[in-house]
Amino acid sequence: MTSSTQTILEHTQIPRHIAVIMDGNGRWAKKRFLPRVMGHKRGLNALENMVKRCAGLGVRYLTVFAFSTENWRRPEEEVSFLMGLFLQALQKQVQRLHENNMRLKVIGDRSRFGADIVQGIEAAEALTAANSGLTLTIAADYGGRWDILQAANKLVQAGATEITEAALAQHLMLAGAPEPDLFIRTGGETRISNFMLWQLAYTEFYFTDTLWPDFGDEQVDAAIASFQTRERRFGRTSEQLPLEQQRS
Ligand code: IPE
Ligand code: IPE
Ligand code: MG
Repeated sequence: MTSSTQTILEHTQIPRHIAVIMDGNGRWAKKRFLPRVMGHKRGLNALENMVKRCAGLGVRYLTVFAFSTENWRRPEEEVSFLMGLFLQALQKQVQRLHENNMRLKVIGDRSRFGADIVQGIEAAEALTAANSGLTLTIAADYGGRWDILQAANKLVQAGATEITEAALAQHLMLAGAPEPDLFIRTGGETRISNFMLWQLAYTEFYFTDTLWPDFGDEQVDAAIASFQTRERRFGRTSEQLPLEQQRS
């Protein structure tokens, strides 16, 4: 394996916001004849590593899909293991985020979580709220459609009779953060699985067969390198872009 730390990335082209579907934990474990939950455990290590790598590269926002609204359909033991892991991470790893000046946010419907998790989330968000480094957002019991609906419902409750794009965007869970520049899905599936439907409108997509627990520095760098080859036209023609943004 080549040393990824030698990869030099042009700072101006580092995505400000990366969104990740961390998929493939179960298959990673299965390949090793381990229980699926061991894959989730290793997946948490991969996340810790990616946070560090992204912060080092100057990424401002990292948003990761940890548990979808649909994931409640999994076997009960797996769901409760994931909840336990989440609680443990909130209790143990948040301190390290804080020491590194990072902010933690959790987006999703909190109503089905246990009181200990809700408390852990609130404490972690409060502890890190004033930090100015990378913002790590964990999407847990999150769904893209749920997010759009809860925003629309807030507007309705506030008496809106007409909903504008700007007003809706202000009530989405990630209001205030720039939309993701780069979307990564590991584990080989090429679908969004109800992740950030609204905000991914113009995001660059990167799909890889690498299973999430195997996604290390080298893979992070490869995803960013791929992003850097893209020409983001936002509807324009290539010729309309400033010369330095044109790719031939
Ligand atoms: C993603 O890995 C983690 C969660 C959904 C919590 P999976 O558990 O979906 O792993 P695969 O897709 O079964 O390999
Ligand atoms: C998407 O992965 C959600 C998370 C990674 C948390 P899934 O493994 O649940 O997605 P599907 O079911 O394959 O679409
Ligand atoms: Mg999966």
